[in-house]
Amino acid sequence: MLPAQQKDLFGHSNQGENYDKFRPVYPQEFFDVILKHTVDRENYVDIACGTGQLLFELNNHFKFSLGTDISPKQIEVTNQKIQKKNIQDRVKAIVCDAHSLQQISNEKGLPSKYDLITIGQALHWFDTQKFFTEVSNNIMKENHSSIFAVTGYFCRGFDYIVGENIFEEDLTIYNEFYDKVKEHFDCDRENLSLGYVGYDFSKEFKEIEKIQTVTNTPCSIFEMVKYLKTYSAYNTLLEKNKSNTEFVDPIIKFEEDVANKVQEIQKTTQFQLQSPIRMKTSYFLRIFKRL
Ligand SMILES: C[S@@+](CC[C@H](N)C(=O)[O-])C[C@H]1O[C@@H](n2cnc3c(N)ncnc32)[C@H](O)[C@@H]1O
Repeated sequence: MLPAQQKDLFGHSNQGENYDKFRPVYPQEFFDVILKHTVDRENYVDIACGTGQLLFELNNHFKFSLGTDISPKQIEVTNQKIQKKNIQDRVKAIVCDAHSLQQISNEKGLPSKYDLITIGQALHWFDTQKFFTEVSNNIMKENHSSIFAVTGYFCRGFDYIVGENIFEEDLTIYNEFYDKVKEHFDCDRENLSLGYVGYDFSKEFKEIEKIQTVTNTPCSIFEMVKYLKTYSAYNTLLEKNKSNTEFVDPIIKFEEDVANKVQEIQKTTQFQLQSPIRMKTSYFLRIFKRL
């Protein structure tokens, strides 16, 4: 079990706004399934909301919605979006450690019970047993109607687009980058890539639906690079090497290698695409009720 994230690992300059622009988007099907199960629609909380990837898709189905995150930078961006959308009368975002949501909600006079609780791409940062107890005992309604939706995704690398409906898998460049950054993830990344099978939900929850899907999203090399730059591990690696004059940024090599390969492909095919690669992303969604 990892200790929960204590510091703001999502407050680097590559994150915040970039996180919002370049991270993969959840499949629409996930929102449809979450809503299908959520019968009562009074209060919704998105825990570890980041810049609101789930919050802004789901809030308009509820009377009141709350986004919480430990990162002031992410909450700042979320609050700007709330203002811009002019929904501040029914959507709020606060800096809050997920393990003490009830206490902070009480202090701020916010609702204590929620009909829907979502957590996207964040459980692997948490002390899961402590968090599960907080959710099931303190945040879900006693009548068992509340829904706890846990979702996440991980990049499985990319393909080159070499013709109409013809793709060539990259077998080395992504892995070379990933191998250099992976040890700097301060979270349980392995469990994320297993769809959280390593966490024991069964003491507190009953699973009522589980979905998995893979998307292939055409993108430019620039977009892929921007996405990789939002990895907390990449930012930690940069931070650790900021005074190291010998340090070679792995993203520079990644970008050069992909650009060379794309150039090679373009020489032999007539394809001059704006989006010459496609990013492969695995998504999962797990839906729970209280026992
Ligand atoms: C990868 S982002 C996910 C953002 C968004 N939910 C999504 O689906 O893309 C993980 C988020 O978890 C937040 N986080 C990590 N530990 C936390 C904690 N103990 N309490 C609240 N938020 C936390 C981070 O600050 C970050 O914004």
